[in-house]
Amino acid sequence: MADDARPAPKRLFIETYGCQMNVYDSERMRDVLAPLGYAQTDKPDDADLVILNTCHIREKATEKVYSEIGRLRAHKERRAGEGKGMTIAIAGCVAQAEGEEIVRRAPAVDLVVGPQAYHKLPELIARAARQSGERLAAEFTPQEKFDALPVRTPDGVSAFLSIQEGCDKFCTFCVVPYTRGAEYSRPAADVLAEARVLADRGVREITLLGQNVNAYHGEGARGFADLLAAIADIEGIARIRYTTSHPIEMTDALIDLHGSEPKLMPYLHLPVQSGSDRILKAMNRKHDAAFYRDIVARLRAVRPDIALSTDFIVGFPGEREQDFEDTLQLVRDVGFASAYSFKYSPRPGTPAALMLAQVGEEAKAERLARLQALLAEQQRAFNESQIGRVLPVLVAGRGRRPGQSHGRSPYLQAVHFPDTTARDGDIVPVRILAASQNSLAGERADIAAELA
Ligand code: 5AD
Ligand code: SF4
Repeated sequence: MADDARPAPKRLFIETYGCQMNVYDSERMRDVLAPLGYAQTDKPDDADLVILNTCHIREKATEKVYSEIGRLRAHKERRAGEGKGMTIAIAGCVAQAEGEEIVRRAPAVDLVVGPQAYHKLPELIARAARQSGERLAAEFTPQEKFDALPVRTPDGVSAFLSIQEGCDKFCTFCVVPYTRGAEYSRPAADVLAEARVLADRGVREITLLGQNVNAYHGEGARGFADLLAAIADIEGIARIRYTTSHPIEMTDALIDLHGSEPKLMPYLHLPVQSGSDRILKAMNRKHDAAFYRDIVARLRAVRPDIALSTDFIVGFPGEREQDFEDTLQLVRDVGFASAYSFKYSPRPGTPAALMLAQVGEEAKAERLARLQALLAEQQRAFNESQIGRVLPVLVAGRGRRPGQSHGRSPYLQAVHFPDTTARDGDIVPVRILAASQNSLAGERADIAAELA
């Protein structure tokens, strides 16, 4: 019988840390493992295979990995007592950066797989079962990985699509150029083929991913704007987003596209890191604060409602009170719809970690609190400015309360509204009635009269 040929069901638990790239990679690992009979579980102690997809960007994220391995070891020992196995795999950027150390320090870990080697997971798992061969796969072969991964199985109406990996910018604080390697762009034909598969499977919104996504220079496209325009031509795809961008890669063509392509959503995550020219220089960001302000002005000239999001690092080595004031001033001048902000964390092997004027923990904490208070206020003000407007919302599911649906606004805000008729993937007009820092609530503008 055909059923006999199917592998026995096994349980897979994946814990994802860090950025959207890891979220995408976790999805792809699930796809690679599905043919081996792995189905997902949300309980690690139930799992035959546990994957930690790790992040190396800040020290805290890295430390988490080692404490989590300790916890998993206890599950593994308990399962062994019950005659059941548990394979522990470490993936992601910590695997890439500290793979050999993990292999040495953590015998409970069965395999270590870097972000370019996920297609080798089946082989690594087989090796782990035989307890023979190398436990570590961490070579840089992005092209080979993308070619070897199976066809996508998206769940939901929004999907990530990775088009570019790695970074050559070498900001002095950042480990990415070391963990993810040099910039690599997938050929345009491959990206478009994957986007068409997603569209055929019901995806309406694609978020293009890359560490420096707008530095995309793949074969078959004249740069990133050209690729975006080709994706916009795909029927079924209604919304396009991209992340993460670097200011110096915001070309004229890309800025213009924000004004002319309605599928390109009016929301852009554009990390600035600092508002101080001195600090931007020490960070090797390759631009100053005026350059950033100018890009924002040009984007707003072509797309007045564009909402901006950014990243900040406070307490970078050498940051004085005046530099931090310059950051606050940039925030006041630009006005952000959302932002991520972090205390500077020295990372092994990066130039900034060796800089002499490290900022004390207290000053970092105090500046972060001041910055986050200002950013939270801006985020709330931005959300409140939507009250009374009718926004097109991409429906993505039912709310927790019965009779509720939810989705995303063009500006990436979560929107909740009473509704039972909209289907996932519909784009419905919602009149915004209330706003909090993190979400909006409203009613269907097209059927509100009937509900009243
Ligand atoms: N310390 C603190 N934050 C960092 N980031 C990157 N490296 C560090 C570091 N060493 C932040 C930057 C980047 C985001 C993804 O993480 O703001 O844009
Ligand atoms: Fe890191 Fe800078 Fe590259 Fe972004 S641009 S990944 S912050 S080195």
